[in-house]
Amino acid sequence: MKVEQLFTGCLAEMAYYIESNGEAAIVDPLRETEPYLRMAEADGAKIKYIFLTHFHADFVSGQYDLAKKTGATIVFGPNAVTEYEIYNGKDGEVFKLGKGTITLLHTPGHTMESSSYLITDEKGNTPCVLTGDCLFIGDVGRPDLATKSGEITEADLAGYLYDSLRNKIMPLPDDIIVYPNHGAGSSCGKNMSSETFDTLANQKKTNYALRADMTKEEFIVEVTTGLKPPPQYFPNNVKMNKSINTSIDEVLSKGTTALDPATFKEMSEQKDVLVIDTRSKEAYTEEGTVPGAWFIGIDGSFAPWVGALVTNIQQKIIFIAESDDRVSEIVTRFSRVGYDNTLGYLAGGINNWKTQGFDIDKVGSMSAKEFTDNLKAGKLEKPVDVRKDTEYLSEHVEGVENFPLDAINANFAQIDTNKAYYLHCASGYRSLIAASIFKANGVENVTDVRGGFKALKETDAPITDYVCPTTLL
Ligand SMILES: [Fe+2]
Repeated sequence: MKVEQLFTGCLAEMAYYIESNGEAAIVDPLRETEPYLRMAEADGAKIKYIFLTHFHADFVSGQYDLAKKTGATIVFGPNAVTEYEIYNGKDGEVFKLGKGTITLLHTPGHTMESSSYLITDEKGNTPCVLTGDCLFIGDVGRPDLATKSGEITEADLAGYLYDSLRNKIMPLPDDIIVYPNHGAGSSCGKNMSSETFDTLANQKKTNYALRADMTKEEFIVEVTTGLKPPPQYFPNNVKMNKSINTSIDEVLSKGTTALDPATFKEMSEQKDVLVIDTRSKEAYTEEGTVPGAWFIGIDGSFAPWVGALVTNIQQKIIFIAESDDRVSEIVTRFSRVGYDNTLGYLAGGINNWKTQGFDIDKVGSMSAKEFTDNLKAGKLEKPVDVRKDTEYLSEHVEGVENFPLDAINANFAQIDTNKAYYLHCASGYRSLIAASIFKANGVENVTDVRGGFKALKETDAPITDYVCPTTLL
């Protein structure tokens, strides 16, 4: 039985492709259908099942489109209710796939419908278990507030999670491989490892949540402490995952429309259209951009930042790409978090825009050394660190205020548009996003510090003493 892990770095998400004797199953597919269709075709296999571990909150999964194209059955665990046809598997139910089987284990906790899938090969061995957001490597799924409904509290969910882990996952063979749905960088847990799989035995030794002598009460406190509110797009993605959405093919055909500079300009000036510049940091700062554009570079945590910052999921979006061959990838990546209303891209890129003689907007750019020298000389009006508060409190440059990018929409009223801002983050991606949003909202004088905190630490900038982040909890 073939089990392949399909890792998507931007979302820190792992989908799975399983195949045996001409029958295939996909677990937790992303929005796009092509990669799965290609894999099955290469194996000469028919996709029979699409298994979901739960209603994802951090991306829109592609089960509906994929089932429509393949005739596969969509399987969710108990309690899942959707607008489209699904099969609700029962705890312990066995699904035949080629010469092997897949057993649904109902493992509520992260959400109530959460389920894990145990793979059994033709010899009756169980090489791996797909744990979804029940068990991660080094962590467990957060009791999911985004899908909280009715009377169930976060503590109730944590209690269910404890029982699921102790009764369903921990009794599995020690050498079984744990394949989770997320890795480091996802907001679905607090403390995930950058490893994408591990043996259960090793997790029992190293994962705090599986400690043998942990009581239920201790577990509940541990997993519910320090939970931040989920990113704003999470409830929207859950809703979309229960509904029938615009098909990915339709989203792609609309989003990949080439817009000539004059049309792009006209659209960019409409109040309800947002321009997103997806190019590299260097291209954005050196060449400048279309006035009012936000920078969210495609080569970074693109989709989660779109989701965190663009408050209207139906926002009309037009975008600038570094090259035309990345256009469909960009539209796909918007749609992975439910932003389906992309209307097209700037044909010929920023050079074509410049050729027309249209205006260019630029944020300032400063080296870490210049920042430090000017800070010490008292010449920086508003030096700001846009990292998370936990990062800031653990270590920061003295005299620099914290204004986290995560909360920029909620706190923007605190910004004085007449002042000069100097922004840094950890390495330069988030500060450029923030700088572009400052600029788009009327701050004329905004400068990005290249290389961020990492580069600043190599200058003689005054760094505060380390404060243990746990004191923040
Ligand atoms: Fe999740």
